[in-house]
Amino acid sequence: MAHLLKIKHSSGDWRKVKTTAIAVGIYDDLKLSRQFQGVNRELGRGLSNALAAKFIKGKVGEVKTVVGKKGAIAFVFGLGKRGELNAETLRRAGGGVSKACVANKVESVAFLMPIDGKDTYYTQAAAEGLVLGSYQFNEFKTMDEDPFEMMGATVVSGNKQAVAKGTIIANGVCLARDVENRPGNVATPTHIAENAKAIGKTGGMKVTVFDREKFTKMGMGALAGVASGTDVPPKFIIMEYMGGPKKQKPKVLVGKGLTFDSGGISIKPAAKMNEMKYDMCGSGVVLGVMQAVAELKPKMNIVGIIPSTENMSGDKAYRPGDVLTAYNGKTIEVLNTDAEGRLILADALSYASKHYDPEYIIDFATLTGAVVVALGHVATGIMGTDEALIESIKSSSKTTAEKVWEFPLWDEYLKQVKSKIADVKNVGAPMQAGSIAGGAFLEAFVGEDIPWCHFDIAGTAWGDKDLPYQNKGTATGEVIRLVVNLLRI
Ligand code: BES
Ligand code: MN
Ligand code: ZN
Repeated sequence: MAHLLKIKHSSGDWRKVKTTAIAVGIYDDLKLSRQFQGVNRELGRGLSNALAAKFIKGKVGEVKTVVGKKGAIAFVFGLGKRGELNAETLRRAGGGVSKACVANKVESVAFLMPIDGKDTYYTQAAAEGLVLGSYQFNEFKTMDEDPFEMMGATVVSGNKQAVAKGTIIANGVCLARDVENRPGNVATPTHIAENAKAIGKTGGMKVTVFDREKFTKMGMGALAGVASGTDVPPKFIIMEYMGGPKKQKPKVLVGKGLTFDSGGISIKPAAKMNEMKYDMCGSGVVLGVMQAVAELKPKMNIVGIIPSTENMSGDKAYRPGDVLTAYNGKTIEVLNTDAEGRLILADALSYASKHYDPEYIIDFATLTGAVVVALGHVATGIMGTDEALIESIKSSSKTTAEKVWEFPLWDEYLKQVKSKIADVKNVGAPMQAGSIAGGAFLEAFVGEDIPWCHFDIAGTAWGDKDLPYQNKGTATGEVIRLVVNLLRI
């Protein structure tokens, strides 16, 4: 767990905060973002020299290190154009400052909120950035000669509760990243279940785990089919947080927990197959959100459901051509064993629809390579049945700066997943609208009249973005912030 766990808040004089370094913002007019008079003598000269030399530009995302006398250190973070400050700029600033601390082995920092950063969400975003930027995944390094972790950060001015909230949400994201970054031989379905139980303990949740025998008997033929090729025990995990009135409908979150996707008999090519350890990032979203719920303890009902297994080949594995029966009784013709995510989600969506009377169901899955073709690593593909739900998802997406883009689920696409011999098939029209085919398939397993939206996070769950608060090439924990915002916690 290498990241900041706690961030302090101070409303007093920054000079009294005991940290190794300070961090202050600057706009691109090269004027500091707050009164900085009384800059102590150690730093004043260093800062004015750096400004005179045009070493600092004040661009969003920029973090420059200024060293004064007696080893005094200031990080100057760019805020872009004056008057255009926003939360994402502060999140990037927080992330960049933490990364600079780690790179320079600076133990702690006082992050000075800009004077025009009064919005409480700005403070939350800065705290999120500080935690997320401090994140390192080094669990498997035994020979790192010079390991370094940040010890502390203090946000100076801004809003105290917002610091706490931002820290909690970012800790949820970091928990998700940890589980997601672990390889398939470590982050097994049992490991995911253990994390769910630990989160449940913190948050007073009821956590139920069905094993292979149980969920097979219950009629989850789709999950059982995918799991038939592996001896690693599969799990069906349910987390119930009932913080609201008994009669209040729960919001249900479903996450694909495919701990390694080889493709099964329809095997994937070797190149990049290792990346399929990330095929459980949908379950990471559920765990990350539930971790934040456990700490924030909102007065509402939220249920998390995770179907979890590997997808392997071998003589016991399910085959192309097999017909499986899902939990809601619908039959599925398997035409490609690599389209396994939608199968395990079929049982989870059916279970959620039958056993809860959900206000809505949202699911998260690294479901299709096609979403990367359509949207790259820039945005999550979303699609669903309820306009109002989708509108609020889009609005949360704008707030938290995690981009989503909606695909249509028109009847033409629903027809493409109809099977000749069963109710549905697990692929759509060849080489066409692959991500929508995934969503169209899932829709058949959502109870009628239940608002539902599917998030295809295959392009956003692990990183290709150059963001100061993410680490390139590893798990991002994207859309966790969005979902916490959507839940209105
Ligand atoms: N987990 C993959 C999707 C994926 C691929 C995520 C690449 C991230 C990067 C999923 O199970 C899968 O294999 N989908 C197939 C579906 C196809 C067989 C209809 C795909 O996208 O190729
Ligand atoms: Mn697959
Ligand atoms: Zn998969």
